[in-house]
Amino acid sequence: MASSPPTFSSKDAVVCRNVGKTWSAGTSRAHEALRGIDLDVKPNEFVVFLGPSGCGKSTLLYLIAGLEEATGGSIWSFSDKVETPSPERSLIFQETSLFPWLTVWENVSFGLSIRGASRAERRAVAEEALQRVGLKAAMEKRPDELSGGMRQRVAVARALAMRPKVLLMDEPFAALDVQTRARMQDFLLDVWRDSGASVLFVTHHIDEAVALADRVVVFTARPGRIKTIVPVDLPRPRDLFSREAEALRIELTDLLRDEVDRAFAEQEGLASVA
Ligand SMILES: Nc1ncnc2c1ncn2[C@@H]1O[C@H](COP(=O)(O)OP(=O)(O)OP(=O)(O)O)[C@@H](O)[C@H]1O
Ligand SMILES: [Mg+2]
Repeated sequence: MASSPPTFSSKDAVVCRNVGKTWSAGTSRAHEALRGIDLDVKPNEFVVFLGPSGCGKSTLLYLIAGLEEATGGSIWSFSDKVETPSPERSLIFQETSLFPWLTVWENVSFGLSIRGASRAERRAVAEEALQRVGLKAAMEKRPDELSGGMRQRVAVARALAMRPKVLLMDEPFAALDVQTRARMQDFLLDVWRDSGASVLFVTHHIDEAVALADRVVVFTARPGRIKTIVPVDLPRPRDLFSREAEALRIELTDLLRDEVDRAFAEQEGLASVA
């Protein structure tokens, strides 16, 4: 892609302008995942992505992380054009990818070792990040000695160790049971409040969107476009059993239903061609 001036007037945490992504563009396997995404995320805002399977939510996180290049439009983060990954933007994947042969604290500080930090420095940063996720006592353990929820907290600590301004989370709690997920949501809200970071969080769970979001971005079926953005004006801490929360769940369920039907129809069409 031709390089363009790296400045943008907005100080927003993330700015997407007409962003599109076609995988394998220009080949017979070309596959349009995203089209015309315009999105502004403010500093310290919590934004949730909701949309049918395959609509491009993960793709958009990869583009914002700088791990993949958009094939259309531009992305900025705090006025810098996003072209490569940056420690200011940390991505947490759905499946935790901790290194089993390293201890918890070594996993947490792994990104710092790439930057050349000393062992003592790395240990100090890891200790602080683990303290924030309530796992300081597990510093010397290995990932297979932890529960699924604890491993996800280590993944969050690893992201926090880089002191990101933007935390990108791709269905981070999907594999957890309902009770653990609720605990993790509360814990994430505490971490978010203390860190001042903006969070972009993908989920399939409408309950989770209502519990967490300042705004919910609802996507259409592929190619993913923004169907609508729903503000969540519920005071925090939230009463998820309130009439307002229930009304919001119904609204989001209705918005999603048509798109999920369309996505299934398309995927069945693809399967019958294959
Ligand atoms: N590396 C890739 N190469 C080619 N196509 C891809 C690649 N990654 C994703 N796709 C395709 O792009 C589309 C969007 O995928 P993406 O993973 O972003 O969807 P998603 O909204 O995250 O879905 P889910 O909710 O199931 O995780 C899908 O049709 C998928 O098949
Ligand atoms: Mg995904």
